[in-house]
Amino acid sequence: MFDCNYFYYIFFGFVLVVQTSLAHKTGILKNVGAFCANDTTRGDPNLIPIDVGQPRFINKVENGTLYQIGSGEDQVWLIHVYGNSGYDFGYAYGTLLRDQIHKVLPRAWAHFEQEIIDALKDLKLPKWFEELIAEKGLPIALDIQNDLVRKYMDEEVYNEMRGIADAAQIDYKTVVRLHMLGEITRGRCSLYGLWGNATLGGKTLQLRALDWDVDGGLQDYPVITIYHPGTSKLGHPFANVAWAGYIGTLTGMSSYRLGISEIGVSFPDDTFGDESMSGLPFIFVERYILQYTETLDDALSFIANVRRTCHLILGVADGKLGTARMIQYSHSKVNFFDDQNLQPLADWHPRIPNAIYSGMDWLCPSRQYKLYRAIVDQYGQITPELSIKNITSVVKTGDLHVGVYDLTDNIMYVANARGTGEQGPMEAYKRQFVKVDLNVEFARTR
Ligand SMILES: *[C@@H]1O[C@H](CO)[C@@H](O)[C@H](O)[C@H]1NC(C)=O
Ligand SMILES: *[C@@H]1O[C@H](CO)[C@@H](O)[C@H](O)[C@H]1NC(C)=O
Ligand SMILES: *[C@@H]1O[C@H](CO)[C@@H](O)[C@H](O)[C@H]1NC(C)=O
Ligand SMILES: *[C@@H]1O[C@H](CO)[C@@H](O)[C@H](O)[C@H]1NC(C)=O
Repeated sequence: MFDCNYFYYIFFGFVLVVQTSLAHKTGILKNVGAFCANDTTRGDPNLIPIDVGQPRFINKVENGTLYQIGSGEDQVWLIHVYGNSGYDFGYAYGTLLRDQIHKVLPRAWAHFEQEIIDALKDLKLPKWFEELIAEKGLPIALDIQNDLVRKYMDEEVYNEMRGIADAAQIDYKTVVRLHMLGEITRGRCSLYGLWGNATLGGKTLQLRALDWDVDGGLQDYPVITIYHPGTSKLGHPFANVAWAGYIGTLTGMSSYRLGISEIGVSFPDDTFGDESMSGLPFIFVERYILQYTETLDDALSFIANVRRTCHLILGVADGKLGTARMIQYSHSKVNFFDDQNLQPLADWHPRIPNAIYSGMDWLCPSRQYKLYRAIVDQYGQITPELSIKNITSVVKTGDLHVGVYDLTDNIMYVANARGTGEQGPMEAYKRQFVKVDLNVEFARTR
């Protein structure tokens, strides 16, 4: 499942030596570790038309409204939550999505628990934490992890989880534990930020392709949550793309036209710093950016100053400024890249004007290069539609879900993996996308 992580290529030994010495000679890469699996195959274009239907009203409570968007098997729940506290948000969410949460949570939990225990030695966790999982079990280990991060967390996030648990009548601790899993598993993913000359009409576009675990049933109940804070202490409106019961941010856009994307790094080089179990979990760093920051600079300074945890690549794009940055992220070091200084610099990951991008991982030549080719071959012509048709599907990235953000026009496109009992291809990038007009959604009142 955590894909790339396991496959340290045995045959790669030879290739690795060649690549490393070449990189050393050109001074491009310092002390290269292992590379991810070589996959140069290309997928077919996704020719399914985007669903542009309006959201359909389903149900309503005092602080929330539930809609569905999309058609057939590719429907997504779209929920609006309002309130003056995290608890208000959570209570509305847990009331309207009670059944969906009851279906997702036990299955996802059981699945991830088994996978993590089976894969313990491949997860690159600190020894003491591995032993803790082995001896005391995953729930206890995650409770201890929660204790380590609690002081960095926004209390309102816990209040929101409490609201969900109370309204949906599920165990609060299980909700918290589910949100600690992101720190110990690694999704391999892809991202880009494109602006100016890179896109048709100079739009600012961002890709978030999430290649995580499609066997946990998360995609059975995909949910887009639109938060409408009633007070500035809860920030401003933003959209979070996840699954019933999950309020961390992996994918989303804000009403300040900032977008966020992320890649878990399994193949770093020595330019990354240390990792730590103690700090603000990255799913809440991403959420903070959408909920509280107003500009790209705000977001970057938050990332620079927050107590960070693990090895990641982040993407932040700003539709107001018309630009994007990529961030090389770890506990002890952080580096910010634009199109002029993008890393890693290698013949398989060249720089592109008005673009930042990363395919699947840091040291992942074949996947990085495929994404590079897809962007440069269509340079200047790229729209969300073209990206869906002929970038993610051809590069083959975004198993679990894909978000394409049009940060100029404030529109988000989302696809999800095949749910249980559904037909058609498994991977989200091969399926139908739905269009969500956030101009309309951010403006919806109770
Ligand atoms: C990756 O696979 C392709 C196609 O099979 C091959 O041409 C290429 O040499 C391989 N690259 C590496 C680094 O192994
Ligand atoms: C709805 O939100 C308001 C604050 O806007 C809060 O006072 C009220 O208790 C909430 N109602 C429910 C049922 O959560
Ligand atoms: C876009 O392309 C034009 C024509 O090649 C060039 O003059 C201009 O500097 C480019 N703009 C940016 C922002 O790179
Ligand atoms: C997809 O992009 C490639 C270039 O990367 C191009 O040759 C091909 O015609 C495009 N296909 C579609 C369906 O747009």
